[in-house]
Amino acid sequence: MKTLKKVFISSLVALVSVSLLNLNVSGQAQPKPWDVPANFKTMKNPVAKGDASNKAGLALYTKNCASCHGKTGLGDGVKARMLKEFPGDFSGAFYQNQTDGEHFYKTKTGRGEMPKYEGKLSDDEIWNIVNYMRTFKK
Ligand code: HEC
Repeated sequence: MKTLKKVFISSLVALVSVSLLNLNVSGQAQPKPWDVPANFKTMKNPVAKGDASNKAGLALYTKNCASCHGKTGLGDGVKARMLKEFPGDFSGAFYQNQTDGEHFYKTKTGRGEMPKYEGKLSDDEIWNIVNYMRTFKK
């Protein structure tokens, strides 16, 4: 009985510390990895990068995404504090090392607190945002 109790308590401690480590400074959970289908991962971005695309992307991003993701993609928009999950830091390597297709897929399909933009934004609009979000790279 005593060992059972010890085992129970130590697993409880382990569980609590794991979940604590999984929280960022604002107490938000770090999202689990996404399952992005292979055809999206390697998908070619049909919209050329450059000033025209960045301009279109900036307008769409400001209207649709900045409230959560923040003006410069740091995950610090006005609504971010109300979210249970951290929206991500788009300036860092974790985000910037993903392919355009991965960003496109996640924006199109959404998950949990991340809205689904399929049907709300056209594919070209999403690609323009994907291009614009590359400018957040530090
Ligand atoms: C209501 C708040 C909210 C809005 C608005 C929002 N997002 Fe998100 N987004 C999130 C959250 C929360 C996550 C993390 C969810 C997860 O990974 O499960 C996320 C995750 C993402 C990711 C994945 C990041 C990564 O590193 O894997 C991308 C890409 C993304 N959002 C793009 C966008 C774009 C583009 C828009 C606007 C068209 C947008 N989001 C609008 C809350 C939001």
